[in-house]
Amino acid sequence: MSRFLTIAMPKGRIFEEAADLLRKADFQLPPEFDDSRKLVLEIEEEDLRFILAKPMDVVTYVEHGVADIGIAGKDVMLEEERDVYELLDLKISACHLAVAGLPGKKISDVAPKVASKYPNIASSYFREQGEQVEIIKLNGSIELAPMIGLAERIVDIVSTGQTLKENGLIEYARIADVTSRLIANPVSYRIKEKRITEIVERLAVVINNQTLEG
Ligand code: PRP
Repeated sequence: MSRFLTIAMPKGRIFEEAADLLRKADFQLPPEFDDSRKLVLEIEEEDLRFILAKPMDVVTYVEHGVADIGIAGKDVMLEEERDVYELLDLKISACHLAVAGLPGKKISDVAPKVASKYPNIASSYFREQGEQVEIIKLNGSIELAPMIGLAERIVDIVSTGQTLKENGLIEYARIADVTSRLIANPVSYRIKEKRITEIVERLAVVINNQTLEG
């Protein structure tokens, strides 16, 4: 068994908050961690290996066991049922999933189109509402869809609300709150339980202190 514990980190906007949290929990992340284009970084002193993946892919690396633990958004966990343990709510990158569209536009009675990066979340939401919709899967810039007439509604992440505002869209419904979670591969968790639990405990102390301060 490798002495390294492998952690899958999300690249992009979650990265900074996740790295900040790890540093507060006293993990000695090197300064180049933030700017490097390297996708694998090792911290010898801590026996830690970080892999940097697209946020949507973190859960895949963990599920397949090539990463022992990872930091993944609740949105990704809700979209697909995955064989991973959710260990801790890191309470970072808070945002929510919402239905949005152009203001004053009633949704069609017959199979309105809904564009989303989250086809499963979108279809189960509308199914629960008793509305039959056609889901169109997109990979980004979802707000474009109602603006140019590809779809009547979108299901997407809203963080500051700026993207909706700048593109003249409004929120019609809130589906779920989202924060980042610490997840673990079930086999890794069994084999490396002591190390993983220690990491969970170190992070939990920081999160609890922040909650008390906040
Ligand atoms: C996300 C999301 C929205 C935007 C919301 O997109 O899909 O477009 O952020 O953030 P805001 O409420 O603070 O404006 P992201 O930037 O991750 O890129 P994407 O559209 O390519 O997925």
